[in-house]
Amino acid sequence: MQKLWWHDAIVYQVYPRSFQDSNGDGIGDLPGITARLSYLQALGINTLWLCPTFASPMVDNGYDISDYYAVNPEFGTLEDLRALIAQAQAHGIRVLLDLVLNHTSDQHAWFQSALESPSSPYRDFYIFRDGVDGGPPNNWRSNFGGSAWVQAPDGQYYLHVFAREQPDLNWENPAMRSALYEMIHWWMDQGVAGFRIDAICFIKKDQSFRDLPPDGPDGLADVAPRCLVQPGIEDFLAEMRDAAFAPRQAFTVAEANGVLPEQLQNFIGENGFFSTIFDFTYTDIDLKSGNWFDASGFTWRDMRDAIFANQASLQGVGHGAPYLENHDQMRSPNKYLKPHQRTDSAIKALGMLYFFLQGIPFVYQGQELGMGNHPWQSIDDFDDVSSRAQYEAALAYGLSEAEALAAIAHRARDNARTPMLWTDAAHAGFSTDTPWLPVHPGFPRINAEAQQQSDASIWAFYRNMLRIRREHSRLFFDGAFLPLCEDAKDVIAYERALDGTRICVYCNFSDAPLRTDLPPHTVLLSTCPQTAEAIAPLSAMMVRMR
Ligand code: GLC
Ligand code: CA
Repeated sequence: MQKLWWHDAIVYQVYPRSFQDSNGDGIGDLPGITARLSYLQALGINTLWLCPTFASPMVDNGYDISDYYAVNPEFGTLEDLRALIAQAQAHGIRVLLDLVLNHTSDQHAWFQSALESPSSPYRDFYIFRDGVDGGPPNNWRSNFGGSAWVQAPDGQYYLHVFAREQPDLNWENPAMRSALYEMIHWWMDQGVAGFRIDAICFIKKDQSFRDLPPDGPDGLADVAPRCLVQPGIEDFLAEMRDAAFAPRQAFTVAEANGVLPEQLQNFIGENGFFSTIFDFTYTDIDLKSGNWFDASGFTWRDMRDAIFANQASLQGVGHGAPYLENHDQMRSPNKYLKPHQRTDSAIKALGMLYFFLQGIPFVYQGQELGMGNHPWQSIDDFDDVSSRAQYEAALAYGLSEAEALAAIAHRARDNARTPMLWTDAAHAGFSTDTPWLPVHPGFPRINAEAQQQSDASIWAFYRNMLRIRREHSRLFFDGAFLPLCEDAKDVIAYERALDGTRICVYCNFSDAPLRTDLPPHTVLLSTCPQTAEAIAPLSAMMVRMR
């Protein structure tokens, strides 16, 4: 395989609203990110993914774009973004933007024109249909709850797979597709290295627009069976690859849920649609359905099966994008560890668990500090559009208000969106004024400044993981993946091997020591002091075989 720059990528994800405020308005911004590039360099990353920075009314915090060519003024200007890209380059860091191609904001000029007149050339950039029997065209439920259709003033309905303020683009329209490709080229001209691509598996809709059997108390049905990875999506994705990404050698990581193992070859194989895609199987393992209150009660065995199956499906096919957290997830210590298990050692072990899997690893802001979920008190404390919808759904399913709040507080995306914890000063050094979301009360101990000064911190552990990953970048990117210790309960262990080098990772999430009988080896990294014969409970160790 030809070596490309992104084969060595280690990506750090920034949520611009919550990373660093530079002008005291309580909202993170682009100059704030630029000011923190040295921090990212010290951690050892080489690629930065910015969640959407485009003009947006921020109903879904930037995933509702009103102008693809403009920067959201609350984040700064296009000049600020260019400065960030240039400064990042000087720090050895490439920048990825977040491309939202399934939908726009309802404030986008295309949609405004489409609404204004059914004969507008932009009407067909979206999906308008006549209603049926005085109601919407069908019974599809949007991902954020409620009908997926909204009636326009002229009587027709438009489709939105996410919030009502996020009308879906009509990918059947070639002029619409060309407009998107042109925009992608323009951003490549601004110096970005590639893109994270949002919700891409929703772009193809079943053109029959038929009803589905209702699957909830609202009488509606999840859109996924008619809108997720539908037959024919391959044609759109191949066209986009050829028209937009391939000519610019753009790195692309797609949020591609619903892709089956047998489809991986098309998506990320040789000449695939994308460089890589995220795997959802182990990050959504805590959920039984799309409802946040629907806990799966997963075990470490389930977790191991999901990870191992994913790794097996990638072998000889393409490269994965392992991650533990992102802006749509709760914090990982709360998801994977029981309250009494949330020790620094266990949190480091979670890091080790995923960080050395095959592909390109992603780290989400604050994960390297071991940030936890926020202690939410009331449903009114949430900002995210999907929190209230999930709360209403929980009530509709018969949960009490207290139960619904507990479920939402646990799973809320806002847990990942509270401000980055920089120091033990006011507002955790994020801003000089009250931030848009509350600061996690753990900041006096859990903050970047304190952790950078301690060799025993979670931050220092992450820096070491990144260093080891860089030192053996080919092995971790491309090497074989072999399961280990499959009989041990609550243990996930694996070997990575390439050209005679063998590195083994042992993560012990049980409450008993893991007896090992290792051949001669060198310890590369360990979450706490281990003896030669056993790995302590809630800890992990990584060794190189001699
Ligand atoms: C993706 C984003 C999420 C957003 C949704 C709609 O899942 O990660 O934050 O709400 O798409 O754009
Ligand atoms: Ca600001």
